[in-house]
Amino acid sequence: MRRFADQVAIITGASSGIGFALAKELAWQGARVGLLARRRVPLAELAEEIRAAGGLAAYATADVGDREAVRSAITELTTQLGPVDLLIANAGVGAPTTLNPLNVHDFEKMYRVNVFGVVYSFDAVLGTMLQRGRGHLAAVSSLAGYKGLPGEWGYTSSKAAVNNLMEGLRIQLRDKGITVTNICPGFIQTPMTAKNQFWMPFLLDADTAARRIVAALARKKKVYNFPWGMSWLMGLTARLPDWLVARVMGKYNENPPWPDQPL
Ligand SMILES: NC(=O)c1ccc[n+]([C@@H]2O[C@H](COP(=O)([O-])OP(=O)(O)OC[C@H]3O[C@@H](n4cnc5c(N)ncnc54)[C@H](OP(=O)(O)O)[C@@H]3O)[C@@H](O)[C@H]2O)c1
Repeated sequence: MRRFADQVAIITGASSGIGFALAKELAWQGARVGLLARRRVPLAELAEEIRAAGGLAAYATADVGDREAVRSAITELTTQLGPVDLLIANAGVGAPTTLNPLNVHDFEKMYRVNVFGVVYSFDAVLGTMLQRGRGHLAAVSSLAGYKGLPGEWGYTSSKAAVNNLMEGLRIQLRDKGITVTNICPGFIQTPMTAKNQFWMPFLLDADTAARRIVAALARKKKVYNFPWGMSWLMGLTARLPDWLVARVMGKYNENPPWPDQPL
């Protein structure tokens, strides 16, 4: 059975990694998919791949950190596909946090994309969802949002903000017919993690992650922490004393993995 038949789903950050795999899985599950990211070429190629497999896809480019650009890209997509049933705010960026100098620019960029990108994406569809009395808002946050980590606290705090805003939003929308799902993955094999030189426990490939996420969305889960082994490990890490976390992360802080391109 196609679990998203006749639904319109928009995915931000669909040009790569988790978003790319999510778009394919949702199209396979019968959704008409709207693809959004900054790079046109990979979006066009993905739309073509989905159409060739018998699905329906449209794409539009925007920087999710630009409120007006997101709004007009989503309008462009809904004009082609119809009103949005499911919006997945997945676009995100990550870079280590250094002390001297404190890389404030990267910090600002992570908040703009990871936090405001979610808010701007929801803002573009929430009014119509409220009018229709139905819809589903989802964000791809991270298990990293459950613990402030040395050398990563710009990224981890941006995801903590997402976890918190998704909780408040969910409770506020409780009796409005709109479902809210916060997705917190562990390590997933994508261009974002390709540069990591360290061991990534419970690493999943993006297609497996997408299948699990789509199944959780179909079940209308409130929070989806996965895989469970990594979720358990993160819960344990959150209880460790500072000295132990500092010791474990020591080497990482000396030579953290920087993204291939500046944020
Ligand atoms: N990989 C993991 O282990 C992992 C774990 C937990 C959570 N996550 C989260 O999962 C999400 C997807 O990450 P990923 O691993 O799939 O990374 P990825 O392969 O680097 O993909 C990131 C996506 O976000 C888009 N994006 C980045 N900045 C954007 C902007 N300003 N405006 C619009 N789109 C933008 C990129 O597209 P363009 O460059 O074309 O704009 C790309 O499609 C992120 O929110 C990430 O924090 C990842």
